[in-house]
Order: sequence, then structure tokens, then C-alpha cells
Amino acid sequence: MTEKEIKIAFTEYSSIEELSKEDKELATAAILAMRGAYAPYSHFHVGAAVRLENGTIVSGANQENAAFPSGLCAERTALFSAGATYPDKAITSIAIAGGVMGRICASPATPCGACRQVMAQYQAKGGKKMSVIMVGGEKIWKFPSVDDVLPLIFDSI
Ligand code: THU
Repeated sequence: MTEKEIKIAFTEYSSIEELSKEDKELATAAILAMRGAYAPYSHFHVGAAVRLENGTIVSGANQENAAFPSGLCAERTALFSAGATYPDKAITSIAIAGGVMGRICASPATPCGACRQVMAQYQAKGGKKMSVIMVGGEKIWKFPSVDDVLPLIFDSI
């Protein structure tokens, strides 16, 4: 028997101003994308922005539906849009921001498991590490790759 351990390393920033120019631009795009949220049920507005390897930024926001499972999270809205519009471009970074009625939460926006799984697959598809930036009003977390937010993904088929 061998005891094993998985460690996650990430960077915490206290302000968007501490981010690199590129990451600040992506985090700002995620915050602005919150405006596109359609959340008449939860009133929780989420914005996501992905950066492609060519520098293009694609944004998305959560879209709810009266038939609840038909709605979609902001992250997958952005990821699927980027995947459909730029199928040959790797996604190198994703930023997420969220808040009630458009007011950003103090703590970083942490993506749901389904969105992490989709991030993992687009990272594998692109063949490049995708950094994950979780944006909050009072702190920001940056993870170097999707592996750090979803270790041991299902990729067996
Ligand atoms: N939501 C996202 O957009 N991303 C996540 O990672 C978690 C949750 C949305 C879905 C729903 O519209 C609202 O937030 C409340 O769950």
C-alpha cells in the first residue's frame, strides 16, 4: 500500500490590478459578461471569458430556462461558443466572475463540476494548458491549469 497525495498550487491576488495585463483584460471581460446573464430564477449573474491562443476573447453568461436543466452556465456558454466559432484554436485561459443581481461577490467565483469537466476536455482538445482565473471583488485566484481544479478527470473513452 502507498499513501499518495495530490497538491494544488494557486496564486491569490487581492486586486485585479495585480494581474498581468492579459489576465486583467480577461478578468474584466468576465465581469462585463455578467451583464449578459439571463437569470430570472436564481438572480445570480455569472460571466465567463475565454482567451484563445491567437489572443481572441470570447465571452458568455449564464442562461436560465423555465425548464431548469435546459439552462446553461456562463463557463459552458463561453467554452461552447469558442469551440463552435474557432474550432482550431486552443483555449489558453478562462476567467469567471459572478454575483447577485450583477453585483460581484467578494469571494472568487468557483465553477461547478460540469463546467470543470468541459474545461478539461477543451484543454485536452487544444493540447495546451488552460489557466483558470476565479474572480471576486476582494480576491482573485489563478490556477495554472484545469488539472489543478479537476484532478483525475474521466478521459478513458
Ligand atoms: N452558474 C454558472 O453560470 N456557473 C457555475 O459554475 C455555477 C452556476 C449559474 C447557473 C445558474 O444560472 C446560476 O448560476 C445559479 O446556479
